[in-house]
Amino acid sequence: MQNKAVEISASIMCINWLEAGHDLIALERNNIDYLHWDIIDGSFVPDFAMGSSIINTLKKVTNLRSDYHLMVDEPSRIFDMLNIKKGDIVTIHQECSRHLHRDLILLRKMGCLVGVAICPATPLETLEYIIEDVDIILVMTVNPGFKGQKLVAQTLRKIEKLKKRIMDLKLNIKIEVDGNVCPQYIPEMVSVGADILVGGSSGLFRKDIGIDAFVKSMEDKILLGIESRKLKGYS
Ligand code: DX5
Ligand code: ZN
Repeated sequence: MQNKAVEISASIMCINWLEAGHDLIALERNNIDYLHWDIIDGSFVPDFAMGSSIINTLKKVTNLRSDYHLMVDEPSRIFDMLNIKKGDIVTIHQECSRHLHRDLILLRKMGCLVGVAICPATPLETLEYIIEDVDIILVMTVNPGFKGQKLVAQTLRKIEKLKKRIMDLKLNIKIEVDGNVCPQYIPEMVSVGADILVGGSSGLFRKDIGIDAFVKSMEDKILLGIESRKLKGYS
């Protein structure tokens, strides 16, 4: 039983690259909702991940929707490289756009779901004058750019504050949570308002558990979180 109250986005930078085809088939078998493409430019974050050639090659062999996470300075430079489709999510960092509103409007015209991401240290208030222009707000629960990092605990209260703000404004915005999404933290992440969980090396791609078993185990953890958030009156 897939619990669509909370969607799963698989962080492909964490895939087992020696078994990429096998893992993609397993993601499809488990009805994963999105493939999460971390694009890292070596400037905003001092690392590199996947470029358009790898992403477009892998996209050819799957029908799963794309969830692009651009950790890229001045991201509008690369929008046209992404072969964006209706139903895809494209998320840019608040910290990366000198003209954030203009970049979000540009994305809106491309027909995708429009997302903005914020790093652990970035206040929610920086989104105050663009919040009506986005469909997704990605709250980084680790510092961006690397897999295997530990949760920045205070981001959980940021998620809850954002959930309350979205409800106060009666906006239809999904909260995506990215970083250290593991069995221990999933219930609380969902309880404070997560609508999309990015599965990475902390859980979905853990070799000792496996994709099928982890997705199954997530269902119970997600239900725990949903029960808890209902008690708080969150949608
Ligand atoms: C980190 C990326 C995440 C990361 C999540 O900058 O945005 O998608 O791969 O993986 P884990 O679960 O290792 O934090
Ligand atoms: Zn990411």
